[in-house]
Amino acid sequence: MKEIKNICCIGAGYVGGPTMAVIALKNPQIKVNIVDINADRIAAWNGDDLDKLPIYEPGLKEIVAETRNKNLFFSTDISKGIDDADMIFISVNTPTKTYGKGKGQAADLKYIELCARQIAEVAKDDKIVVEKSTLPVRTAEALKSILENTGNGVKFEILSNPEFLAEGTAVEDLLAPDRVLIGGDNTVTGQEAKDALTSVYGSWVPKDRILQTNVWSSELSKLTANAFLAQRISSINAMSALCEETEADVDEVAKAIGMDTRIGAKFLKSSVGFGGSCFQKDILNLVYIAKSYGLQEVADYWEQVIILNDYQKRRFADKIIRESYNTVNGKRIAFFGWAFKKDTNDTRESAAIYVADYLLDEQADIVVYDPKVSTEQIYADLEYLNTHSAEEIRSRVKVVSSPYEAVEKAHAVAVLTEWDEFVTYDWEKIYDEMLKPANVFDGRNILKKDQLEGLGFKVFNIGK
Ligand code: UDX
Ligand code: ADP
Repeated sequence: MKEIKNICCIGAGYVGGPTMAVIALKNPQIKVNIVDINADRIAAWNGDDLDKLPIYEPGLKEIVAETRNKNLFFSTDISKGIDDADMIFISVNTPTKTYGKGKGQAADLKYIELCARQIAEVAKDDKIVVEKSTLPVRTAEALKSILENTGNGVKFEILSNPEFLAEGTAVEDLLAPDRVLIGGDNTVTGQEAKDALTSVYGSWVPKDRILQTNVWSSELSKLTANAFLAQRISSINAMSALCEETEADVDEVAKAIGMDTRIGAKFLKSSVGFGGSCFQKDILNLVYIAKSYGLQEVADYWEQVIILNDYQKRRFADKIIRESYNTVNGKRIAFFGWAFKKDTNDTRESAAIYVADYLLDEQADIVVYDPKVSTEQIYADLEYLNTHSAEEIRSRVKVVSSPYEAVEKAHAVAVLTEWDEFVTYDWEKIYDEMLKPANVFDGRNILKKDQLEGLGFKVFNIGK
């Protein structure tokens, strides 16, 4: 088996950054180069201030401090990275297409294709290419075809190694994964490549947690895992609407069903709706793939998970409007949280963006406080939707650096992200700063309702 001495990872984002940091930490004998076309991002990864790394993940800066410039390097020299490597990971972004065929559903593979072409052009000796990006099925085949048809006689083995880390717990998930999935060809060289990658992970992951499959199973397992997880959230969120109409409490229902070992307790937290870079994108991909094989019922089945999620975000915004005497026009709504979940600065597909957009339709004034998300990111997220002009967004939405500033003369507080710190705020002070009646819309069911009601707040929950 070929011993891996040099790894190159193309893409220094939420997946590539943490994954390579952990691989470098656990394999001091391997040199790991992370390359990216975005020079600012690479400069930030190389910056002296570890609190300003481009990605916030608990535990990440400590690992970067330990490995950077020892066996972990960040660079914009993609060609050199490829040339030096025995194994190349592709961790570039695969956003949903915003144009042409499959618009709004299919994944845009242009970044992957660009990488493949560059690898084919630069590589002078045999390489193992690992697809790490969240990808739809059939990508390995596309990669193979580009590499084989444009390369200069060099032999490539393509592996699928889907990412199961969740943001906010990426380091934890990487250090102790439930499983590592490695898909590859069932040929002699395919097996050698799978074994080479298995040995990289084998430095810290128990052997029985490393699963080798064929490429198709590996790629489809990624979409299936995300579809099942998202489906659980949409299922409990569907019940939350029913709970609000009855005397049932969704947290009690979730606890009761979660204790059934056949169902299990995880991913049953009802919320304002799931976000993140994976769930929606992967399900839309699944829908697109099912449709393209003529499996309309299968496509409809999974699409319903997305429809329910959109409904949940809309329902939350509608509740804010309804409980504000049916108008939020000119009213100040304080948003606690903008990230799609706690412990990350990532905002992709965050429910907060859509709730804010609906409230802007009603001409609300929004003041946002999030512990980790930048002001520019918040404006960029809203502008990206293209439903309100940049001027309107900048005049109606303010971003502040303290929760207490956010609530000054606010009509309502809406909790969009479950950051731990929100629970421990001085809620008496918040009550004093707000206009009355002081409404709190807890989109994550994290606040202490009884205590807040004791202070005079009117508290609205999801599914209660
Ligand atoms: C997800 C998958 O968990 C991970 O395996 C995959 O590799 C990438 O996609 P991520 O998007 O980082 O990870 O976060 P996750 O923890 O899955 O949360 C996704 C969204 O669901 C968040 O908005 C979260 O707040 C929401 N959520 C999660 C709920 O609303 N309720 C829950 O019970 C769990
Ligand atoms: P993910 O969550 O999948 O990691 P990110 O957007 O955080 O997604 O990271 C993807 C990274 O890939 C970005 O930093 C982007 O600049 C980089 N990238 C995209 N295309 C290329 C390319 N052809 N060559 C090098 N880097 C690329």
